[in-house]
Amino acid sequence: MKPRERTRKRGSEERAATKPGDAERTARPFSIRPAKSEDFPALLAIDAACFAAEIRYSQPEMSRYMKARGAFTLVAEAADTSIAGFILGVAHPRGGHVITIDVLPRFRRAGLGRQLLQAAETRMAAAGARHVQLEAAVDNAGALAFYRDQGYRAVAVLPGYYPGGLDGWRLVKRLDGEAQPGPPLP
Ligand SMILES: CC(C)(COP(=O)(O)OP(=O)(O)OC[C@H]1O[C@@H](n2cnc3c(N)ncnc32)[C@H](O)[C@@H]1OP(=O)(O)O)[C@@H](O)C(=O)NCCC(=O)NCCS
Repeated sequence: MKPRERTRKRGSEERAATKPGDAERTARPFSIRPAKSEDFPALLAIDAACFAAEIRYSQPEMSRYMKARGAFTLVAEAADTSIAGFILGVAHPRGGHVITIDVLPRFRRAGLGRQLLQAAETRMAAAGARHVQLEAAVDNAGALAFYRDQGYRAVAVLPGYYPGGLDGWRLVKRLDGEAQPGPPLP
């Protein structure tokens, strides 16, 4: 995840992922679409529901990341137009970057994260990116399991990367069909 203004980067999720049975399964159809400016308050609220107070993005931080060059935000929208999750990424020929991916706890383990990440990777590849990278806290077991499922590999430890001195992993996935770097995540 990308840095906060003075601290380093996003840390682990605040709330444990819900059990599979808790998820509002995709009986409700979701569609992936680009975020609109009026979605901004909902995205901030979702981020606040996904991360502890010291790590969630402030309004200026989120705004700055969303407006950065190459940045894009995709949302998962239910039939009733409520937003269940989103991904904020950067698509650049030098490489893609996932800044954050947030799915509301009650919608987890229903494939929304996968849909969002795959849509983002498609967008990055279309921009010429041959790989995508991101950072994840070493104690964010749910996110690490998610990225492992999506084929990401850990290429570096980032000592003291997160507020409080927590280490991070840098994770990478090749988008161009070349061999994935590093060993699979444990
Ligand atoms: C990480 C996150 C985006 C995953 O979203 P999601 O919609 O629950 O993910 P999916 O349902 O698409 O999961 C796809 C697969 O990833 C794996 N996975 C996802 N969450 C997992 C968890 N908590 N524990 C174990 N495996 C998990 C599973 O293999 C899952 O497939 P399955 O449900 O068929 O077993 C979501 O948990 C989240 O928003 N977490 C809080 C924010 C966060 O930590 N973001 C990442 C920061 S680096």
